[in-house]
Amino acid sequence: MHEGFESDLRELAGRGRLRALCERSGVDFTSNDYLGLAESEELRRAAADAVARGVPVGSGGSRLLRGNHPEHEALESEAAAYFGADTALYFGGGYIANFAIFSTLPQPGDLIVHDELIHASVHEGLRRGRADFVGVPHNDIGAFNATVVRWRAAGGKGRPWLSVESLYSMDGDSPNLAELFAVADRHEAMVVIDEAHATGVLGPQGRGLAAAFEGRDNVITLHTCGKALGTVGGFILAPRIIRDFLVNRARPFIFATAPSPFVAAITRVALEVSRTNSERRDRLARLVQFAGSELRRRCNIEPSGSQILPVIIGADQAAVALAASLQRRGFDIRAIRPPTVPEGTARLRIALTLNVNEAIVVDLFKALAEDMRKAA
Ligand SMILES: Cc1ncc(COP(=O)(O)O)c(C=O)c1O
Repeated sequence: MHEGFESDLRELAGRGRLRALCERSGVDFTSNDYLGLAESEELRRAAADAVARGVPVGSGGSRLLRGNHPEHEALESEAAAYFGADTALYFGGGYIANFAIFSTLPQPGDLIVHDELIHASVHEGLRRGRADFVGVPHNDIGAFNATVVRWRAAGGKGRPWLSVESLYSMDGDSPNLAELFAVADRHEAMVVIDEAHATGVLGPQGRGLAAAFEGRDNVITLHTCGKALGTVGGFILAPRIIRDFLVNRARPFIFATAPSPFVAAITRVALEVSRTNSERRDRLARLVQFAGSELRRRCNIEPSGSQILPVIIGADQAAVALAASLQRRGFDIRAIRPPTVPEGTARLRIALTLNVNEAIVVDLFKALAEDMRKAA
């Protein structure tokens, strides 16, 4: 009855691409809990407080029906104020928020130009959306411009949309946003910036790398709550008209149970911690500096400069073997393989969080250098 599934899984296994869930173990060099908030006292207290205030766990329905709760509304107005946008719209996760943006906003006749390394959730939205889309080489702002120019010359009449991440999840690098906005201004384009990995970590008060472009009427940002903010959820920050359009037209918003008001209440505290407490951010920045120089010195690998340190290996099996060896030594490091990353660029993705300290980073890079020497 399930032969199709079985043969597909066998084929994945044959290519060394079969995945399985495994328990958490080892020192955390894998999570996106960059500020160490997920298990923090602050968020535990926020949860206890939400219980004491009687905040419901479940929303009971769509936001457009009875599911709308004052905690959602409060969270959204606080997020809009923090991220410097007109409005915020809160979703159950960043994936579904990205899906909502790209499946709903670009209209027939528009063109979306996206970085080739854009997240899977954007691709999902593009496939379900009604506009044409095209990928351009990673971080090549000139290619965004050239693509729009070509499209206009060929008779493209709609609106161009430019889609990037502010900090790429598997590469830890960033596009030049000032140049991207110059391209956008030239072509009256909308810019959609996925800040998932920058939220809480980068920019003034952790507002992200698009903070310098806050409040413009051609910018939409996505901020996620499941990474540095330590909870779960995603915000679309946008001009009011776009929020109103999403509320009326975004199927993932309309036809889904609203996120938990309880989690919304905890996320309000996470935003407040992120806004007011730069100590965690500063500590992470120091760790990033330290780890970068250790990676260069011990492993001869150029660091990305951010809290996401890719170690590109190439072949899937070699990356998996290296990760397994580090796991045996007690480090939770995972191999990231295609299709999450392009073919031939399987890698270790080392994520720095406040769940580790400098001494553990030194241990990791000593082990990595040794394992890489053995494998060579
Ligand atoms: C760049 C990027 N965008 C969006 C998402 C999806 O966000 P979430 O995990 O909150 O659904 C992720 C996380 O996996 C991501 O890395």
